Amino acid sequence: MFGSLFGKRKPSADLDFPVVDLHSHMLPGIDDGAANVEESITMLRTFQEMGYRKVITTPHITTGYDNTPEIIRGKLEEVRSAADAAGLTIHIEAAAEYFLDERFMSLVNEGQEILTLGTRKHVLIETAFMTRPIMLVEVVKTLQNLGYRPIYAHPERYTYLQSNWDSVKKIYNSGILFQINAMSLIGYYDNAPRKLAERLIDEGMVSFIGSDCHKPKHAELYKKARESKYFAKALELDIQNNTL
Ligand SMILES: [Fe+2]
Repeated sequence: MFGSLFGKRKPSADLDFPVVDLHSHMLPGIDDGAANVEESITMLRTFQEMGYRKVITTPHITTGYDNTPEIIRGKLEEVRSAADAAGLTIHIEAAAEYFLDERFMSLVNEGQEILTLGTRKHVLIETAFMTRPIMLVEVVKTLQNLGYRPIYAHPERYTYLQSNWDSVKKIYNSGILFQINAMSLIGYYDNAPRKLAERLIDEGMVSFIGSDCHKPKHAELYKKARESKYFAKALELDIQNNTL
């Protein structure tokens, strides 16, 4: 978990390139991602062509996107069938991107099912862009005490972190795992996210690289992002995508 604190290393040749994506919105019609199953298939095909073996797609769960495990599993089956019919071989799983709010904490505290990535209880969390949740570090501890491994979706995109490195360090030191978006590295979200993503890479604080692919055009941009200097630099870190 804290491998990056002990210097840059690669656990095995198998991890030279990520073949598992852990953050995307490829299930149709249930959030701001794929509008229909055709878009889902187009995105999945692009990832397969890039050499990906698995996509764990992560629909939003938040107010306005009231997704449940049942809804997500139903859509997953629909996309798997369509992918089969289209001759795709990429493995497709689904979890969720949980917005950190009272509703999420109720699910956690009530012991309801939380959709996790892989087999080691990784859970993907996002926050509001402008305002740092006051209880973030406490929430991380609560999740860890329950055996979850929280992953912080795209920290570089939060304006509350872009000019507050102390806050970045404090959150990092809570043990939450940082997942940057590859498209940040080509300035897709503007310059401030790019700068922070680069600094996180420079400081060895990145555990996962995600696509956060919502639309087919993002899958194309992801190809470009993979050519960037900082993407290559990130791969010198202990990137854990392929462990999921
Ligand atoms: Fe996302």
